[in-house]
Amino acid sequence: MTGNHDELVVVLDFGAQYAQLIARRIRECRVYSEIMPCDRPAAEILALCPKGIVLSGGPASVYEEGSPRCDPALFHAGVPMLGICYGMQLMAKELGGEVAPTQIREYGRTELVVEAGGDLLRGLGDHMIAWMSHGDAVLRPPQGFEVAARTAATSRGAGAPSLRPLRSPKRDFVAREGGSTSQTIAAISDPQRRLFGVQFHPEVVHTPRGMDVFRNFLYEQCECRGRWTAASIIEESCQAIREQVREGRVLCGLSGGVDSCTVAALAHRAVGDRLVCVFVDHGLLREGEAQQVRETFTRHFPVDLHYVEAQQRFLVKLAGVTDPEHKRIIIGREFISVFEEQARKLGDVRFLAQGTLYPDVIESGTGAAAVIKSHHNVGGLPEKMGLKLVEPLRNLFKDEVRAVAHELGLPDEIVWRQPFPGPGLAVRILGEVTAPRLATLRQVDRIILDEIARAGFYRKLFQSFGVLAPIRSVGVMGDQRTYGETAIVRAVAGDDAMTADWADLPHDLLATIANRVVNEVAGITRVVYDITSKPPATIEWE
Ligand code: XMP
Repeated sequence: MTGNHDELVVVLDFGAQYAQLIARRIRECRVYSEIMPCDRPAAEILALCPKGIVLSGGPASVYEEGSPRCDPALFHAGVPMLGICYGMQLMAKELGGEVAPTQIREYGRTELVVEAGGDLLRGLGDHMIAWMSHGDAVLRPPQGFEVAARTAATSRGAGAPSLRPLRSPKRDFVAREGGSTSQTIAAISDPQRRLFGVQFHPEVVHTPRGMDVFRNFLYEQCECRGRWTAASIIEESCQAIREQVREGRVLCGLSGGVDSCTVAALAHRAVGDRLVCVFVDHGLLREGEAQQVRETFTRHFPVDLHYVEAQQRFLVKLAGVTDPEHKRIIIGREFISVFEEQARKLGDVRFLAQGTLYPDVIESGTGAAAVIKSHHNVGGLPEKMGLKLVEPLRNLFKDEVRAVAHELGLPDEIVWRQPFPGPGLAVRILGEVTAPRLATLRQVDRIILDEIARAGFYRKLFQSFGVLAPIRSVGVMGDQRTYGETAIVRAVAGDDAMTADWADLPHDLLATIANRVVNEVAGITRVVYDITSKPPATIEWE
């Protein structure tokens, strides 16, 4: 999709924890941005005609042997550049400035004195608050640069508790008694060459005017107009889909989640009735979900939707299976074979539309991650059946997908649907998956979701759901002894699935859920609330 964006800003990744966040902030300014490895050759980057280049932070030190660098030709290409933290130090070093370790590691909220607020820091006043996290600093900027800001003489970084610690502190620093008095260079600028550097992190919320720094860079220095909107994404995606599939037919697996529905809606807009959707009901869905997805989607988009009832097939295959990975593998395989049968029946379909998102693309780029859970998707199918993948969401973050979905006219119940795993309730039923246990969990889950929605928390949470645990406990109801299973309430907050905090839900809401579950769902004697974050736990229990 890159070629279709008239305004691209490249974010070169030097191993920063925040590279994704930088890209998101730029996109929030309505400028399309893409993350690339820092060592991408200048010729390749410049061939994309970027309006600007941002050098991210990173855990290394610029003077260390083998520390990451970018192609030095980029500094002389005439493209506006913004170096952040390590990016600024690299820029300074490569252009002849001096970088060295500071005696005190600045970490956290820091006050800055703006000395030259003419360009990058325009409109930010004489003082600003910024988030710092560094051990090295620019001691002398390169020729042609001026110091735009320094840390205030009394400033001392103090870690804000709500931000997770950075991935790898560069080294141990011995704090000088009495804190910093050294007035570190916090921003440099060379307006002539449009090269800028900030020692602080404008991308984190702890730098309150950070977005102004990006706006100044993007709109004034890069001369971007900020025309990247949901409407323009739709237009570009439809054009790209049409160019890719030409007269071909496209198959799309609909799951009811926002990603697959958005893919289907985009493909439908692009190719009309040459889109065929398949919804596989594997019987592991929540109460009323299959019906709801069918009705909602076809009400809004008159697509050719094939509904496949496969509940029994999956239950038979899952009988007696208790191991989480084994469950996933069985479900993944069965899903592929059902899907494959359908695709065969449909005849000459050559394309498979899939909801791969940008974080999936970035993450699969590293290749170093351990397999924690085998996520089920229709992988394996395209090669086997000679299908070509159509992935219109490849460059989008989840919140951008929601904006596109809304713009496409998908109803709120789809746009704001919390993610639901492919293997469905099977990974929320610990132990064997049976029809009665599925029915129990459906009831529990319904109550949890109803109450969470009623209390106004549904959209605030990344995910909220019930888990059924085969832990039996004794209870007493109406003077009778009971002995039933345990329902676990799980609710997490976060922006993506990589990390998540357990949600501190009000006690009265939890009490209502617990009361209703024990009173209304036969076979449940106890309700517990999961207060583990990810990491070290995962969001799902299996
Ligand atoms: P975990 O449990 O790994 O989940 O923290 C991260 C996110 O992924 C979802 N999830 C899955 N999605 N197939 C999926 O399509 C799977 O097998 C699967 N397992 C977990 C989970 O709901 C959360 O959003």
